[in-house]
Amino acid sequence: MPLGEAVNIEDLRLLAKRRLPRAIFDFFDGGAEDEVTLRENRAAFERVRLLPRVLVDVSKVDTGIDLLGKPSSLPLAIAPTGGISAGRFGAELILARAAKAWGVPFTMATPSAFSIERVAEEVGGRLWFQLYAVRDQEFRRNLVSRAKNAGYEAILVTVDLPVSGKRERDPRNGFHTPYSPNWRNSRDVIFKPAWALDMLRNGLPGMANLVGYPFSTPLGTDIVTAVGREMDAGLDWEYIKRLRGEWPGKLLLKGVERPDDAERAAAIGCDGVVVSNHGGRQLDGAAATLDALPQISRTVGKRLTVLLDGGVRRGVDILKARALGAQAVLTGRATLFGAMAGGEAGAHRALEILSSELVRSMQLSGVRSAAEIGPELLSF
Ligand SMILES: Cc1cc2nc3c(=O)[nH]c(=O)nc-3n(C[C@H](O)[C@H](O)[C@H](O)COP(=O)(O)O)c2cc1C
Repeated sequence: MPLGEAVNIEDLRLLAKRRLPRAIFDFFDGGAEDEVTLRENRAAFERVRLLPRVLVDVSKVDTGIDLLGKPSSLPLAIAPTGGISAGRFGAELILARAAKAWGVPFTMATPSAFSIERVAEEVGGRLWFQLYAVRDQEFRRNLVSRAKNAGYEAILVTVDLPVSGKRERDPRNGFHTPYSPNWRNSRDVIFKPAWALDMLRNGLPGMANLVGYPFSTPLGTDIVTAVGREMDAGLDWEYIKRLRGEWPGKLLLKGVERPDDAERAAAIGCDGVVVSNHGGRQLDGAAATLDALPQISRTVGKRLTVLLDGGVRRGVDILKARALGAQAVLTGRATLFGAMAGGEAGAHRALEILSSELVRSMQLSGVRSAAEIGPELLSF
């Protein structure tokens, strides 16, 4: 199936699967343990029913919103995804370029193959930085000041990863970072030639932002262990308070599912929260983000920017998330699969699919602008 014939995100997922070695596809696609939360994120979207309004002039609709004080052409930003250049060299740059072209923010992950500075210099656009609170405090402070000097607008501190989730597909597949070819996965050189050629040409990716980091586990152990062991399990609200003092830009907590945590974020002076369970990759059994959203939105929605991620695969999901109280969504796998399926053209295709589906679902619901999407569209 050529890229242009991909009619939805699932088609892009299948194209990505065809191109990638199994270990890498599974690292992107999979979740923790029994993948209950991974499935629930989707199921929650599928449970929502709408009550479309009729006889509204929807010949023109406006999907734009104000997102953290600046315009965004869609109620969407690209979520941080680490380790993605293992699937296609330059994946972070590809996604950042597509985000810039579409006028939406791109979130750069701490474990990225390209540095904070390089993405800012080479691409620019609206850039947010996702901070993993690694144990080495000096290193962590340095990441924050690098993001500041490079002109990033926002920091999203990931708070749902005091330790890494148990993602069982990775050890089964022998997923390593850096990817180390062995007799088992070297079959991929034959069966996944496009990926193999890409890696032979460009070399296997590292983690540019973590160069010089004093890893306690030698690199070459599985990714969950290597990066996961560096997370500061002692991280608490005191750190967020300190960070608020160090970071003048927008500050969001990513990975909040409880209204009392959102309330505390507001009290400390955060600008927003991302209702997220890390795409079902951390606590298996955590609530679907769309189910957790309404209470959080009721509690802090007037004071904080409330974003949501997890399971967004359709334009109508963006409409549903807004109707339930999110200002915008973050897309992880949806845009990632696009980039894996077809590089920059694939990332564009993913955004084009989501955007055109959103426009259509707005028209079919009788709303003319993203601002008009509200709870009255929901059928209970
Ligand atoms: C391959 C992959 C890598 C990820 N890496 C990170 C990361 O480095 N930091 C982070 O905060 N979240 C990370 N996430 C979680 C995403 O930011 C986001 O919360 C999640 O993908 C949303 O769910 P969705 O994929 O269903 O859209 C990652 C997700 C995936 C799929």
